[in-house]
Amino acid sequence: MPVNELIYMDYSATTPTDERVIEAMLPYWREGWGNPSSSHQFGQNAKMGLETARRTLANLLGASPAEIVFTGSGSEADNLALRGVMLKARESGRGNHLIISPIEHEAINHTAHQLADKMGFELTVLPVDQYGMVRPADLKSAIRPETVLVSIMAANNEIGTQQPITELGQICHDNQVLFHTDAVQAAQYVDWNLAESPIDLLSLAPHKFYGPKGVGILYIRNGTPIISTMTGGGQENGQRAGTVNVPFAVGAAKAFELVSEDREASNKKLQELRDYLIERVLGLFPADQVQLTGHPTQRMPHHASFAIKNIPGGDLVMHLDLLGIAASSGSACSSGNPIPSPVLQAIGLDDQWNAGGLRISLGKHSSISDIDRLIEQLPNALESLKQFSSVLYG
Ligand SMILES: Cc1ncc(COP(=O)(O)O)c(C=O)c1O
Repeated sequence: MPVNELIYMDYSATTPTDERVIEAMLPYWREGWGNPSSSHQFGQNAKMGLETARRTLANLLGASPAEIVFTGSGSEADNLALRGVMLKARESGRGNHLIISPIEHEAINHTAHQLADKMGFELTVLPVDQYGMVRPADLKSAIRPETVLVSIMAANNEIGTQQPITELGQICHDNQVLFHTDAVQAAQYVDWNLAESPIDLLSLAPHKFYGPKGVGILYIRNGTPIISTMTGGGQENGQRAGTVNVPFAVGAAKAFELVSEDREASNKKLQELRDYLIERVLGLFPADQVQLTGHPTQRMPHHASFAIKNIPGGDLVMHLDLLGIAASSGSACSSGNPIPSPVLQAIGLDDQWNAGGLRISLGKHSSISDIDRLIEQLPNALESLKQFSSVLYG
């Protein structure tokens, strides 16, 4: 199928880079390619671009420029937050306990488990409710005198649920515990005012908001005890060694500026499309065959996710792709051998339902007609999946 006839409904995986972002980055390959740590004019030109990008991001986030650290990805920002804070706490004898939720992205989940399994830190994984919400009372009772850090994602990539971040962060602050949120999915939908919020560390990934891949951002509140986990030169205020990728930093700032300008109107448009999509998908199946996963209202405006009874999400996504629609399943699946999704398990779905959901995530190029085409093709994809399975497995 020609690429221009394909429909992209996987904006939570990544987004197309905005032309204006590409234009903003180009001069930093062509002219401003110096090393921003060099003191000569080539370096200073690059440094000017880098520091302007840092200031732009800081202003938009309600932070100060010194609180913005560029990393190589959202995952790296998450790694730095958890490992950097926990190792610093160990060094200064301030405690050894970390709290996360069971539906964190692997960048948090695997890092937290490595800290526990290989480095002797204590880890508590909080439960979530049927919508994937962390209950503030559970967080309160999990905090102990030796708790250093709580990391709860702002919004879940698989089921779209947005957490009550301010309330959770406030509980942490009331107990002198640091609070990190992985905002990689939620960044562009929220009006952050970090100076006034109880968030100490926040991770972003520009490729989720029409910026470049291969760059991440970690906000670190001034005074937060943390050590660098990427050691080497003293770049990024000593928080992350390595010559900074100036074009990507510039692109990150431009992308965030663009989504921030348009936030209200875009959220409204996406939410209308999302609600139409949810209604149409739920209307396609009998009520005992399909369910919306994640919170019905406290969810990202562009995100709809479903579990379909006894249908492995990964296989369905493959058949949709053959019909020209790019969607996603939340879990790693191989045909006929679906691996249960830990997120769907955490919200209490049993084996009939947890073989990977169907995630449809919308973006600025999405339209009603894309959704209508999905609704038209979804029964065909299911039919071809059933035929495929019966040929393979009898
Ligand atoms: C919630 C969440 N955290 C972290 C990441 C990792 O970001 P990156 O791909 O920039 O490493 C992702 C990517 O999908 C994500 O959805």
